[in-house]
Amino acid sequence: MFNRRIMKETRIEDKAYQAIEDIRSNDLLAPKTIVFGSHKLRELGELSLPYARRSRAMVIMGARSARKSGLSDRIELLLKRYVVEMIPYYGVRREPTSDMVADGVARAREMQPSLIIGAGGGSVIDFAKAVAALATNEGGVEDYLEGVGRGLALKKDPLPMIAVPTNAGTGAEMTKNAVICSPAKGYKKSMRDERMIPTVALIDPELSLHLPSHVVACGGMDAVTQLIESCISRKRTPETSKLARDGLRNVQLALSVAYEDADNLMARERLGYIGMLSGVCLANSGLAMAHGVAAGLGALFDVPHGLACGILLPYTLRYNRDACETELKDALAAFMNQVTPNATTIDDGIAAVESLGRWLQIPPNLKYLRLSGGDVERLAEASMGSSMSGNPIEMTPPMIADFLKPLT
Ligand SMILES: [Fe+2]
Repeated sequence: MFNRRIMKETRIEDKAYQAIEDIRSNDLLAPKTIVFGSHKLRELGELSLPYARRSRAMVIMGARSARKSGLSDRIELLLKRYVVEMIPYYGVRREPTSDMVADGVARAREMQPSLIIGAGGGSVIDFAKAVAALATNEGGVEDYLEGVGRGLALKKDPLPMIAVPTNAGTGAEMTKNAVICSPAKGYKKSMRDERMIPTVALIDPELSLHLPSHVVACGGMDAVTQLIESCISRKRTPETSKLARDGLRNVQLALSVAYEDADNLMARERLGYIGMLSGVCLANSGLAMAHGVAAGLGALFDVPHGLACGILLPYTLRYNRDACETELKDALAAFMNQVTPNATTIDDGIAAVESLGRWLQIPPNLKYLRLSGGDVERLAEASMGSSMSGNPIEMTPPMIADFLKPLT
């Protein structure tokens, strides 16, 4: 389906540092320090030094993956070299729940680290952001979650935090929110504060080698959705749309190669760059309806985030097209590497998104969930989170339920 040629015209590290310059010159919200490049993990000890010398760093990792891959041992050695003691924490399984966060926060309050490191996928990094914030503030996570508890704001700055993503797509290393769910209570909401942006993002694409193909597919479709939705969001800015379009120009080829070939470092580097862009775009411009409904699907029916985005995106783009024609045309032209958009760009672009989804074995709709009419109504209510507020068309639960009927 895709040409296997990998783009060699520009070193990806050069592109990443050019984007970081653009982020700084446009005053976009982003980590204070961003380090990008394969094998950069070796700089972790030095990067920790200003925050944890002769002190403790709580290192949050996936339940099984970090020990199995040897990442946990590597991090411990890197920190030890700079006289930083590692407190390992392996309590993150899948997407973080409020109960899991409560356990992590109790551990942090007990051990009193001066630095939090989150090394793993988007779930691990979101978990680490929440722990870093609650380690210095009173109360539990639900007190701070949007639309769930008392709606408290953080009184104190979070602990310094270093994000080390081991997959590509979510961009959690660049964002100001932590997505937390409760399957028992049926919510999936964000804890959000600009001070929750990681202090340091250490993006080493080499860490994403050998990820299973379905994880690459979900992370990649999350990135595609974040890039396109940040271009059409009502909160969009010209600066973030420019960054998003560069990510879109690179994503089809990089994702299709990375999906097929687990050892292809150049493709993983491209995805690391694309994930970084998608994170900074969503943090500064918000998202739209695919992310709104994906939050509801995750909260109520345990659908993985990237999978939900991949299923929904073509449908939400068709639904919104008349309300954001110019922006959508530009975004989809970038996605197809068209120099100039033309009269069929939107139709062709949405078809190309569908085609990529088929290639990545993303289900074509939500029918496999066998939702009842009542389920659809509950899903519509649960989809009215912060992402939905950026949608080009202002949505209500009955409108979302109508939109969902043909998909379910
Ligand atoms: Fe996302």
